[in-house]
Amino acid sequence: MLSVSNGLDPLLKRPFSIHRILGDDLQFLYRVVGKGTEILSSRKPGDTIEVLGPLGNSFPVRKSNKNIVLVAGGLGIAPIVGLAEKISHSRQFLKKSDEMNGPLLFYGAKTKNEVMCREDLESLNIKPIISTDDGTFGIKGNIVTCLKRYFSRHKLMTEGCTLYACGPEMMLKSLSSFTAKKGIHCFAALEQNMACGVGTCLGCVVNTKKGYRRVCKEGPVFPIEEIIWDKL
Ligand SMILES: Cc1cc2nc3c(=O)[nH]c(=O)nc-3n(C[C@H](O)[C@H](O)[C@H](O)COP(=O)(O)OP(=O)(O)OC[C@H]3O[C@@H](n4cnc5c(N)ncnc54)[C@H](O)[C@@H]3O)c2cc1C
Ligand code: FES
Repeated sequence: MLSVSNGLDPLLKRPFSIHRILGDDLQFLYRVVGKGTEILSSRKPGDTIEVLGPLGNSFPVRKSNKNIVLVAGGLGIAPIVGLAEKISHSRQFLKKSDEMNGPLLFYGAKTKNEVMCREDLESLNIKPIISTDDGTFGIKGNIVTCLKRYFSRHKLMTEGCTLYACGPEMMLKSLSSFTAKKGIHCFAALEQNMACGVGTCLGCVVNTKKGYRRVCKEGPVFPIEEIIWDKL
């Protein structure tokens, strides 16, 4: 949770994913969408901002995961790049084996100008498959459709496969139908509007098969099959 200004306006901190951790530095990747992010974008190098965190959970990655597939939609790329780096670095220490495939990344954006982090992705041992809604970069169309097509064309093993996803609700909802049908494990990072960020206001709850859960405290990452989408 970042305080975008040093004053009382806006009063509430804004939630952001940790994009990358570089030594003692934390990086955030954000888009200006309203008042808070507008103020944040006007801050200068050397300015101080208050940070409350890290909060909530993170993507549960195990070294034993064989086929890792990352899925990002729009600004959902922010935490996925950090995760990709973590996986890529940890795999350099693992023995290469035929059964261990390099992670795949499916990344959808609206248009070419909104495709971010291309250089970061190129430097990693990750195969990115990028789509844009208007076809100005990569494959034209929806990234979940691309993913489904890729799985069927390459007869990708669904057994032992784990998906990690972050993006708009529509994307995650469509992904959850696919993973349920195929029996693939999938973890999704949700974005709900937040007020306190520490579990007290209940402003960020989502309905799950285990009851209501706070995205800021029990999340933001949930097994996708637990989410009850109709009641979000
Ligand atoms: C766990 C979590 C992680 C996030 N990570 C990132 C990130 O890494 N990078 C990033 O750019 N943004 C991220 N967001 C979204 C970010 O918090 C909002 O964009 C920000 O709070 C908007 O603040 P604002 O004052 O500029 O806009 P506001 O004036 O508050 O709102 C402007 C517009 O943005 C919409 N909006 C506000 N909050 C959200 C939200 N949480 N999800 C979708 N739409 C929203 C509002 O409905 C409104 O239409 C994350 C949100 C959550 C909950
Ligand atoms: S934002 Fe207050 S409980 Fe989650």
